[in-house]
Amino acid sequence: MFDLSRITRSGLVRHVDYHESVGSTNDRALELAARDELPLPLLVLTERQTGGRGRGTNRWWSASGALTFSLLVEAPAEALRPETRSQVALVAGLAVCEALEPLAPRAQWRVKWPNDVYLNGGKVCGILCESAPGQSERLIVGIGINVNNSMAEEKEPAAIAADGVPTGAVALVDFDSLSRELTDVLLAVLDRFDFRWSTLLQSGFRALAADYRQRCLLVGKTVTANLSGRRVVGVCRNIDDFGGLVLATESGSRTIVAGSIEAWQ
Ligand code: BTN
Repeated sequence: MFDLSRITRSGLVRHVDYHESVGSTNDRALELAARDELPLPLLVLTERQTGGRGRGTNRWWSASGALTFSLLVEAPAEALRPETRSQVALVAGLAVCEALEPLAPRAQWRVKWPNDVYLNGGKVCGILCESAPGQSERLIVGIGINVNNSMAEEKEPAAIAADGVPTGAVALVDFDSLSRELTDVLLAVLDRFDFRWSTLLQSGFRALAADYRQRCLLVGKTVTANLSGRRVVGVCRNIDDFGGLVLATESGSRTIVAGSIEAWQ
């Protein structure tokens, strides 16, 4: 159970839309984005999500004990140009990574470009950022974190799968057998996101690129990126100042600004 009055008192969000169970918090946030009267940032929060969506064809199962929410935020065009909106996903991944690290400081916390969070080499968090149709100045940041929902007890094949293929999800509880208060974890993530989001709007991505670089999982690895069906293979150098993934390929340096990472080793 979440402590809703504590979440409201934190001042980190101005409206909470709580559900014991919901299909997808991103779908609910998309619905609410059309309602101008609701104050932002708005949080859609649920105990269980039955039809969670991920990037591409991914699905996201949120068993009880997972932290599942979407934030609807104002993204003023003068601060965040349309061509730099993909940076929001990177900022969210960095914020989650920074919020979770103090909960298990001995573990290795990394961001897998663009925005998955990895705990000791396994995916612990997935993020889905979307624009609200017809509401160009509103963005939805959907975040799913495997906190107390042990993967050992998972009845589904894994917390996340693309086309039914398990992708090695992990949960925080499986790292040290400690159960966390989900309200604490949520507030830590919201706090960190608030900080990084303000930096992005005020100073641009360049101001936080160095912190992302320090946590980039793919550095030094041979990466296969899928750019709408076209594959690019190269050794990952890191990200550039705008959040693009820089690969050293056989034909020279390539910067990937949009696409998915299929494999790395
Ligand atoms: C991915 O890894 O492909 C992204 C998964 C994103 C899952 C979160 S859970 C909260 C929010 N609601 C959704 O339907 N999806 C996101």
